[in-house]
Amino acid sequence: MDLFEEIDHQHPDFGDLYDELPLWSAPFGLRMLEHVRIGPRLTFLDVGAGTGFLSIELAQRCGARSTVHAVDPWGAAARRLRWKLERLALPNVFVHECDAASLPLPDGIVDVVVSNLGIHNFADPAAVLAECVRVARPGAGFHLTTNLSGHMREFYDVFRATLQEAAVPGATEALDAHVSHRGTLESVESLLRSGGLDVHKSRAESFTMRFSGGAALLRHWFIRLGFLPAWRDLVPPEYRAHVFALLEANLDRVAAGRGELALSIPVAYVEADKPE
Ligand SMILES: C[S@@+](CC[C@H](N)C(=O)[O-])C[C@H]1O[C@@H](n2cnc3c(N)ncnc32)[C@H](O)[C@@H]1O
Repeated sequence: MDLFEEIDHQHPDFGDLYDELPLWSAPFGLRMLEHVRIGPRLTFLDVGAGTGFLSIELAQRCGARSTVHAVDPWGAAARRLRWKLERLALPNVFVHECDAASLPLPDGIVDVVVSNLGIHNFADPAAVLAECVRVARPGAGFHLTTNLSGHMREFYDVFRATLQEAAVPGATEALDAHVSHRGTLESVESLLRSGGLDVHKSRAESFTMRFSGGAALLRHWFIRLGFLPAWRDLVPPEYRAHVFALLEANLDRVAAGRGELALSIPVAYVEADKPE
């Protein structure tokens, strides 16, 4: 590559590439990039790579002699990642459009396994972990981030009160099950240990997502994409219109009292090694 070849910032592709950092994944992935191993000849496996912002960062920050295997069964994300790799002329990222529970890689070739917001999205996290351990070299590092139980607790407190107010049968039990499916720092560590890894760093932090109130929250595009479908499914269809109108009004009232609706997002960062 000619180092001084000019990038035409008026070209529409570069408008798209400048717009890269994903809203939801970035606060987690940027924490990962503070800690993850960086070096000139590393082989990475990015598990649940999505549209690949972490894969692309690792490939660029580690340079052309490092490689990244980006694994995700989500076809639309793989297409977007391939589009970016072509524009950025990055030949050292390999896209595998498949379930990470069955990887098309030989044993013992990976130096660093990363997964940003992956683990609680896998149908069978233990099977994915076992497969990652298989392809990792002895001594390989595992770095993962995830959100934890306690995620958006300010929202869920109002949602629970609203379901009780609307007397929706069975909905608070369904809500409790939904909330508790997210793990704790201890459950993430325990999963890694039961996969045979040595956990040596683990920390929980948090950030907030701030909204003016319920009307804004429930109409935000990412909330509608990433969270609203699961919230809707907790409420039987015949109650939905009433419950969500009430929820919006209750959230707006809370926001008016506090000056805004600030939702806590707990972030776990955990590091482990495959024993030598
Ligand atoms: C919240 S997204 C995170 C994507 C990306 N790591 C990021 O930070 O933007 C979770 C990803 O896990 C992927 N996923 C779900 N099940 C998977 C599996 N069995 N194997 C690999 N990826 C999986 C989803 O398709 C999705 O892209």
